[in-house]
Amino acid sequence: MLDRIQQIKRKALSELGFLESIEELEGLRIRILGKKGLLTEVLRSMGSIPAEKRPEMGKLANEVRNFIEKEIETQRARLDQLEKERQIAGEVIDVTLPGIKPLVGKRHPITQIMDEIKDIFYSLGFSVIDGPEVELDYYNFEALNMPADHPARDMQDSFYISEKVLLRTHTSPVQIRVMEEVVPDLPIRIIAPGKVFRRDDDATHSPMFHQVEGLLVDKGVTFADLKGTLLVFLRQIFGKDLRIRLRPSYFPFTEPSAEVDISCIICGGDGCRTCSQSGWLEILGSGLVDPSVLEMAGYNPEEVSGYAFGMGVERIAML
Ligand code: PHE
Repeated sequence: MLDRIQQIKRKALSELGFLESIEELEGLRIRILGKKGLLTEVLRSMGSIPAEKRPEMGKLANEVRNFIEKEIETQRARLDQLEKERQIAGEVIDVTLPGIKPLVGKRHPITQIMDEIKDIFYSLGFSVIDGPEVELDYYNFEALNMPADHPARDMQDSFYISEKVLLRTHTSPVQIRVMEEVVPDLPIRIIAPGKVFRRDDDATHSPMFHQVEGLLVDKGVTFADLKGTLLVFLRQIFGKDLRIRLRPSYFPFTEPSAEVDISCIICGGDGCRTCSQSGWLEILGSGLVDPSVLEMAGYNPEEVSGYAFGMGVERIAML
């Protein structure tokens, strides 16, 4: 019996040194000191040995138990440390690996062109102003010489919110708002960029798009001023060799009116698919402010004149 106890002690000692994890240590503890463990079995069988031998055996068994328990604690500390080291080794960061590239946004092409247009007109002495996207019928049509039932309204099929309120179909209502605001002061020199809305939606039309309106009102403003300003502007956008052409046109709020074409930027004017072999691309609408519009805004058309133009930003961005 005493031999058996010594044997258990040796077995425990020889195994303890080789343990590699807390789980293995726990397994060993249960196998030796647990309820059905080797040492516990020995103690349980004490009844079968002669009474005089029991104290000696009990003493040895307790010594061995204490010894093994202490040894287990020592090993536990060692294995805890080992576990920690393993964890740290697993978490090492390789600082030489390439990083994750942050997604840097880019300005939308429309915004880029808008900013470019603004910069050019700033340099020509224009100010940039805003107008409401939800507009009164009065500013969008009426004050621009398009009374109710005027056929020109049909060109701009509209989103109405109520009988008198709609999503603006162009940026021209800003012309009226500005004139009303500053009359009788002069000069007016503004551009008004922004969203406009029309009820058409197909492969080549979007129900929402962007325009930039221009308005200059002063004494003695002529068509030559309009043409010169647009030429300077369009050459800055499309290149210094660009040519422009003004075609007679009609807008209810300008008189005379002109569509402005640029020489085709794809073929240079020789004729290609983009310009339908014409050599020209239509780029904006313009004209001298109609005297009755000036009058409605409070200016005297005998003393004051002005020009206005409006362009689609998507078209310029695409070109
Ligand atoms: N507002 C007109 C349109 O949307 C364009 C324009 C603006 C024409 C200013 C002349 C003067 O078609």
